[in-house]
Amino acid sequence: MKQDMIVILDLGSTQNTVVARQIRDLGVYSEIHPHDITAKELTELDNVKGVILNGGENRVVDGSAVVVLDELYSLDLPIISIDYPESKCEVKYDTLPSDEVMKEFLFTTCKAQANWNMKNFVEDQIELVRKQVGDKKVLLALSGGVDSSVVAALLIKAIGKQLTCVHVNHGLMRKNESENVVEVFGKQLDANLVYVDATDRFLDKLAGVADPEEKRKIIGSEFIRVFEEEARKLEGIEFLGQGTIYPDIIESGTKTAKCVKSHHNVGGLPEDLQFALVEPLAQLFKDEVRACGVELGLPAEMVYRQPFPGPGLGVRCLGAITRERLEALRESDAILRDEFAKCGLDKKVWQYFTVVPDFKAVGVRDHERSMGYMCVIRAVNTIDAMTASIERIDYDILEKIADRITEEVPSINRVVYEITKKPVATIEFE
Ligand code: XMP
Repeated sequence: MKQDMIVILDLGSTQNTVVARQIRDLGVYSEIHPHDITAKELTELDNVKGVILNGGENRVVDGSAVVVLDELYSLDLPIISIDYPESKCEVKYDTLPSDEVMKEFLFTTCKAQANWNMKNFVEDQIELVRKQVGDKKVLLALSGGVDSSVVAALLIKAIGKQLTCVHVNHGLMRKNESENVVEVFGKQLDANLVYVDATDRFLDKLAGVADPEEKRKIIGSEFIRVFEEEARKLEGIEFLGQGTIYPDIIESGTKTAKCVKSHHNVGGLPEDLQFALVEPLAQLFKDEVRACGVELGLPAEMVYRQPFPGPGLGVRCLGAITRERLEALRESDAILRDEFAKCGLDKKVWQYFTVVPDFKAVGVRDHERSMGYMCVIRAVNTIDAMTASIERIDYDILEKIADRITEEVPSINRVVYEITKKPVATIEFE
């Protein structure tokens, strides 16, 4: 390993990630581990320079206090504790130390080097993946989202053709997205890429289904089915690559933190999964994943892509999906993205997209009464997607977008701007 590391032991703190970020922002790599780690496990981690016992409000689980093993105190490592008054450390803090205090601990007490950067991280992970995988083969579901793209780029660098990427186009991707995956991974990075156009299969299954939850379930289960079918065609695969990132693991619940929501790539794996997992981004926060993508040379539009739901345009083509309305949605979304990019709003707004409801309204086209669909624009800002505010878009920009959409998408004759916060609305419509 190229980097020194500080280990944070999770004794029920809700602030683990804050402490980990503080240390990484000061230039030292940090990892969060469970409180019951043994001295042997701790010494087997590479380049550990110090330990922080991070206590907090969840320090009692099932009636018992969460404590660290006494044997850790006899290791030849500096240890401090935060919000853990029972701890046997000489240096204890009641609350999070300031940057100055933390720097003193990192650089004076632990003598750690400020050598945490993406170049070193990528080199370390390449080495670790090669060690884990040996000469075996790895399979990766490449959706084209940030996490799976970055993991693909990293695995291609580490093991080249031992990796097979499968991209399932469910027909609910945004304009040119699947084409970009083929261009970047299949052509530029010369990956083993299996591209499956399953558009008809998905749209046939979804035909006439209006209930949002039912739609999501069909898309999710069909996706797994297609992926499994493709995986069965390949021989000798022993590993499954996953774009699991640190917040996925935290939200899926740790030994002391309750489950917020189970992520499909953490809690939702089939029980009979035959593969071992390769998860080189599992310790990274989202912005670090993007920085890793940049380090690996991925195009900016892939790395800084806005969040896009797994069921894709399926949850924005409201009610029962039709091909005509899906096409109107895809085109209007592309126009919105183009206009946002032209005026710089793409760098400012967290998430923006169009929605096409399943009813028609009266309009006038070519001097004649005509019926057309309505297109809803949604543009929101948020930090954690739990609450969201709307972007106050300039009227001239809105009008330009409305003109373009109604001119270039003949089936749409109205454009509206949605101005509801979350809550009471959600960001998506379904
Ligand atoms: P809501 O609509 O719940 O959305 O306010 C919050 C954020 O989550 C995204 N979202 C999803 N992401 N699979 C995903 O990967 C999904 O099924 C899904 N549903 C919503 C949504 O785009 C927003 O960023």
